[in-house]
Amino acid sequence: MPVLTLRIIPDPILRQPAKAVASQEITKLKSLVVDMVQTMDASKGVGLAAPQIGRSLQLIVVSTIDGPLALFNPAISRRSLRTELGEEGCLSIPGVFGRVRRHVRVQVSGLGPDGAKIVFTAKGFFARVIQHEVDHLNGTLFIDRAKVITTGGGQLQRLLEGKGEAPSDSQ
Ligand code: NI
Repeated sequence: MPVLTLRIIPDPILRQPAKAVASQEITKLKSLVVDMVQTMDASKGVGLAAPQIGRSLQLIVVSTIDGPLALFNPAISRRSLRTELGEEGCLSIPGVFGRVRRHVRVQVSGLGPDGAKIVFTAKGFFARVIQHEVDHLNGTLFIDRAKVITTGGGQLQRLLEGKGEAPSDSQ
């Protein structure tokens, strides 16, 4: 299974709203889902959105305690009033971490890899990852929401100026 090339800021695809996937197209994208999970795992990520590998599609994969979850056209339908700050990074912004406020609990709907509708509630870190990945599909990055960049502020400036170095562990 190939590991896909990660898009790094300031790649413009990361700022474009991703296209919804028609339900009859979903089963044709099975190998993309497999490749994205492989890429996420190989990169030690906990989530990956299709624009991050150069496909402007509403598709995310998320690592869960029960294994990888793939979701097409994900939408957050309910949000807890309660929020919390937590540290985030992003495979498209290597070496940069910041503190982001997220809803503690969200209700998520979307279509699974077989095209069936899925609705579930996510809490805590899982809810944070889902919110981060759904943001990607709207062209929003965690650095837009971060209250503080805790690690890699200089690296962030270099990346934004297009002077960033490729991640050292890229194949
Ligand atoms: Ni990300």
